Amino acid sequence: MLKLLFLGDVVGEPGRRAVIDLIPIFKETRGVDFVVVNGVNSANGRGITPKISIDLLRAGAAVITSGDHIWDQKEIIPYIDTEPRLLRPINYPPNTPGSGSIVLDTAKGKIGVINVQGRTFMNTPLENPFLAIQAEVERMRSETPVIFVDVHCETTSEKIAMGRFLDGKVSAVVGTHTHTQTADEQIFPGGTAFLCDAGMCGPAQSCLGREIDPIIQRFLTGRPILYPVARGPVRVCGALIEIDERTGTATKIERVSEIWDGSAAQPHQ
Ligand SMILES: [Fe+2]
Repeated sequence: MLKLLFLGDVVGEPGRRAVIDLIPIFKETRGVDFVVVNGVNSANGRGITPKISIDLLRAGAAVITSGDHIWDQKEIIPYIDTEPRLLRPINYPPNTPGSGSIVLDTAKGKIGVINVQGRTFMNTPLENPFLAIQAEVERMRSETPVIFVDVHCETTSEKIAMGRFLDGKVSAVVGTHTHTQTADEQIFPGGTAFLCDAGMCGPAQSCLGREIDPIIQRFLTGRPILYPVARGPVRVCGALIEIDERTGTATKIERVSEIWDGSAAQPHQ
């Protein structure tokens, strides 16, 4: 049995610190074999830098996924072609820097990871995510049946459709981007584990990881305003998925949602 831990959008320095602290603890206490982290908001809430990518990989993340803010830190453009474990969404046009998928050799066999971005209510005009992922899953299944998909997407409908579309073809489909964890974890009839949104790894007392008052002011006034990443204890959200590595079928999925304040030996609910 393979235990895969996925952690949702890491928000800024507080989120990074919590995830870097907790990956080794999760590996030790929960027997996690493989960790995937969404790092698209890890640089002050927007994008990811080469240094942050290195820090997350050193902490024990095997693969970093991303999404709509992947290009926000300019230095990531020359870096992304040098680090295949940092993914950008697969449904960019041909010749876009970086890659949207990877297969890694592990002690429990080959594990594939694909990052795809939805289009509904998203600003980036990307290629059709369903067609893009269909082609990649077909190619990847000739290498391994163990495939994890991060679908970075605004709407529940697009994420659920993606999960159902891939049922029986991949091990798990978990959504990101909304920073709000859903409670619909399940295993579909074909054996694919699903969670519509993993939630974020970011400050617990916040609006999606940002300071509360500026966000409320933005809604009250309708005017643009700076909204810094919030501080304080972090809620670390994601999913722990058990997969039969011989068939790629998921046997269990449970949500992770725990508070980490950096002082206790263990995270708590
Ligand atoms: Fe996003």
